[in-house]
Amino acid sequence: MGVSQDLIEVIRKEFALSPDGIHGVAHWDRVRENGLRLAELTGADPEVVELFAYLHDSKRHDDGFDPDHGQRAAEFVRTLNGSLITLSDGDLERLVYACVHHSRDITQAEITVQTCWDADRLDIGRIGVKPRARYLCTSAAKEPGIIEWAFRRSQQTT
Ligand SMILES: [Fe+2]
Repeated sequence: MGVSQDLIEVIRKEFALSPDGIHGVAHWDRVRENGLRLAELTGADPEVVELFAYLHDSKRHDDGFDPDHGQRAAEFVRTLNGSLITLSDGDLERLVYACVHHSRDITQAEITVQTCWDADRLDIGRIGVKPRARYLCTSAAKEPGIIEWAFRRSQQTT
């Protein structure tokens, strides 16, 4: 079933930061697009990837490091499952794991989790940094053409 309009509305309403900020709505949309493109190549579960895009930064308290924001996002995910989200136990744990650890410097995980992290990391160009293959997890994301494609989109400010 993926991400419903109702879910996006709840996320936006509860988001404590500016929706126009570096971790705001345009970032979520690009992470979604990155993730769905990667999922076709990696075999990741597209529903988990899409949910990750809209939820992983949803509980940030600031636009800095905010080390616990992944954990808070994961707790939010658990409260949503059974209402605005309907995931199997396995997919729920994948999404939770992806949220908890997404801002850590790790690349090893199962493929759906790796695809979530790559979708996010490919959008680092919005703060002027080009994505580097060594911080990416999947061979699909490390493709120079994919990095270029994501980098270009991340730098469009409108
Ligand atoms: Fe992010």
